[in-house]
Amino acid sequence: MNKLIVSLLLTVGISGIAHAAGDAAAGQAKAAVCGACHGPDGNSMAPNFPKLAGQGERYLDKQLHDIKSGKRQVLEMTGLLTNLSDQDLADIAAYFASQKGSVGAADPKIVARGEALFRGGNLDKGLPACTGCHSPKGAGNAAAGFPHLGGQHAQYVAKQLTDFRKEEGGRANDGDSMPMRTIARKLSDEDIAAVASYIQGLH
Ligand code: HEC
Ligand code: HEC
Repeated sequence: MNKLIVSLLLTVGISGIAHAAGDAAAGQAKAAVCGACHGPDGNSMAPNFPKLAGQGERYLDKQLHDIKSGKRQVLEMTGLLTNLSDQDLADIAAYFASQKGSVGAADPKIVARGEALFRGGNLDKGLPACTGCHSPKGAGNAAAGFPHLGGQHAQYVAKQLTDFRKEEGGRANDGDSMPMRTIARKLSDEDIAAVASYIQGLH
């Protein structure tokens, strides 16, 4: 078989993975228990609980499967997803994806460094710009499953980058190509604080 056919088959195989289509209306009722931490409409008030409102449906559905299986560890959610079916997770993902996300504010003292990193990366360190996958305004790429970042709590974002950076016991659910682990390992604490603050105010 020639290479083109192999790659076409791979593409079809990947996009052909059966995923239940989500029903946002059904998801609203199923998401009632989530509101205590994430906010009833997915705009959480606490900076350590991620906002889910307006997040891409495909990304949300993947995280829910990863959290349920333990591939991504979220202690606060222990047991919460155990009795939810694939259809329940798809409905909940569709519900939060359909909500409008709120935006915060960046810290003026560090926003310039954060913006430069987000938009331009760092050539010396071999760091790509975040915009390449997460888009210039932080909207992400819903179809590709690249998460929406704009307006997310800085504290949550900084924790994710720190977790992706850990060699062990961190967050390792970014797939075999490890884009986020590779990138986070090139970020200093100061880089993380600055880019997380920039993201919180980005819209
Ligand atoms: C007791 C608080 C709590 C409850 C209740 C809760 N969560 Fe979470 N959730 C968290 C925390 C904390 C995180 C982030 C953990 C981390 O730092 O990685 C999280 C992360 C997530 C993420 C990943 C978000 C992202 O941007 O990657 C999703 C999706 C999610 N929760 C969905 C849900 C759903 C759906 C429910 C209800 C069935 C729920 N959560 C209930 C605390 C909670
Ligand atoms: C090559 C593509 C790519 C680039 C470049 C990239 N990311 Fe990501 N990022 C991803 C993917 C894919 C995920 C989701 C991984 C998963 O499925 O859990 C992600 C996840 C994240 C998350 C977790 C979001 C959440 O809600 O938990 C943060 C934060 C993040 N990226 C920040 C950044 C920052 C900051 C940069 C630039 C320094 C960057 N990313 C560059 C692809 C990329």
